[in-house]
Amino acid sequence: MRESLRFLLGDKLVEIDRCDPTLTVLDWLRLDQRMTGTKEGCAEGDCGACTVVVGRLDRGRMRYEAINACIRFLPTLDGCQLLTVEHLKGADGALHPVQQAMVECHGSQCGFCTPGFVMSLLALRLNEAEPGIGRIEDALAGNLCRCTGYEPIIAAGRRMDEIAPREADRFLLEREAVTTRLAALNDHETLVLQGDGGRFCAPATVEALAALVAVHPQATLVAGATDVGLWVTKAMRHLDPVIYLGRVEALRAITDEGNHLRFGAMAGHIDVRTALAELSPQLDELMRRFGGEQVRNAGTIGGNIANGSPIGDLPPALIALDATLVLARRAETGIARRSIPLESFFIEYRKQDRRPGEFAEAVLVPKLAQGMLFHASKVSKRFDEDISAVCGAFRLTLGSDGRISEARLAYGGMAGIPKRAAAAEAALVGQRWNETAVAAAVAALSQDFTPLDDMRASAHYRLKIAGNLLRRFLIETTQAQTQTRVAGLLAEAVHG
Ligand SMILES: Cc1cc2nc3c(=O)[nH]c(=O)nc-3n(C[C@H](O)[C@H](O)[C@H](O)COP(=O)(O)OP(=O)(O)OC[C@H]3O[C@@H](n4cnc5c(N)ncnc54)[C@H](O)[C@@H]3O)c2cc1C
Ligand code: FES
Ligand code: FES
Repeated sequence: MRESLRFLLGDKLVEIDRCDPTLTVLDWLRLDQRMTGTKEGCAEGDCGACTVVVGRLDRGRMRYEAINACIRFLPTLDGCQLLTVEHLKGADGALHPVQQAMVECHGSQCGFCTPGFVMSLLALRLNEAEPGIGRIEDALAGNLCRCTGYEPIIAAGRRMDEIAPREADRFLLEREAVTTRLAALNDHETLVLQGDGGRFCAPATVEALAALVAVHPQATLVAGATDVGLWVTKAMRHLDPVIYLGRVEALRAITDEGNHLRFGAMAGHIDVRTALAELSPQLDELMRRFGGEQVRNAGTIGGNIANGSPIGDLPPALIALDATLVLARRAETGIARRSIPLESFFIEYRKQDRRPGEFAEAVLVPKLAQGMLFHASKVSKRFDEDISAVCGAFRLTLGSDGRISEARLAYGGMAGIPKRAAAAEAALVGQRWNETAVAAAVAALSQDFTPLDDMRASAHYRLKIAGNLLRRFLIETTQAQTQTRVAGLLAEAVHG
């Protein structure tokens, strides 16, 4: 066991013996370190003003992630490097190429959002050579400019590598040395930190995690904290003890196991997107619109499921694909595992089938087989960085006679849990995939759902959309030339 938190702040080693489990990185920077370059806008992961870059080892290689400091807990930085806007200036006082590009392109009108934009661009530059405009827009979708000066900021993203070649970037030149220093910090001891506000535990193996959850079944499990962070900053909840899953490397793995993909519960959304894109381009689009890049860098597949939100985006897609959830707990002879269909995990609003001492270990997602049609759509008020009003994912299996032999229609935003539309599915099975079948299924949706009625959408609107998504599915599978997606139209508008 280790009782001190260790990470690099820039190139300086920080060791902390006492720390509250939910002290945010932002509060620590601004209030404790007096590093006020990183700003607070919303304190809920939405605006990007607080963006910092975290370098962490991923299977021995350095990976730089833009994250929201306002909802990230400081002790989760154990073994990482934290870079803030203060670290950009050169020893001679010269601006970093990202900053210089912002100046030259007139990308900064206020001091409030600018540090966040700069840090998002820095992460992009450190990870990718010559990003296209699509990637620059992706990387910046989690940053709000209240005066809408996006054009010059995107121009700065295009300019930064012209100002100074990426290979000559100080952070990349130092990468090997930092990797070595982080490798030395990444031990396999369980980190236990005590603070006035409670205890933070971070095991490094599945066995140590299972033992801790068995001893503290009431503990709050924390993965990416993109939900849990808001319980602290918005709901002012006191969480004690906290068990952090992020140091268990085995939980981050994504493996191809033949007819299915296996996602460790800590697989992050960026990697989940890459893997799911292999199954369907629509899953790629769904994940591209999942939060902003900062949220996708931190958030995990296990957190999206275990949170049990009725409007999470992955559960409908994974239920439609007939995914299995693997839950693990400590047993007398090691680890006991229980596999359940993902859909049965969601019992009722905010109530899931997770027993004391259990944690989500993995999700198994079958690949699409011959004769299967698949669809995933998200409808939200804003195109980027917004939670769904309705999310629909559908999988149909067509028999050799051209009739539907199996239908799995799953929706988010239509009930207190992500849920299948049993009556609509029954209306489809045995039918040919055509307008008549869709009309019957759309009519049956009102037996399946009494939708949520809230600020995101009215119940009437949700029911209407749920039917329209089925119609879109039919159009997309029968009229390939018809443009049905805003994403496609936007790409045409921007890129010609
Ligand atoms: C700005 C913003 C935008 C967002 N946009 C979207 C969006 O577009 N679509 C969407 O679906 N969601 C969105 N979210 C919500 C959130 O990002 C997701 O639900 C995310 O996947 C949560 O994952 P996490 O790793 O951050 O979970 P955490 O916040 O760490 O945990 C969430 C819950 O899961 C539990 N938990 C985590 N891991 C495990 C485990 N392995 N076993 C058991 N319990 C576990 C935690 O105890 C907690 O109850 C957004 C959030 C923010 C702040
Ligand atoms: S302060 Fe708005 S995202 Fe953190
Ligand atoms: S430049 Fe800061 S809000 Fe637009």
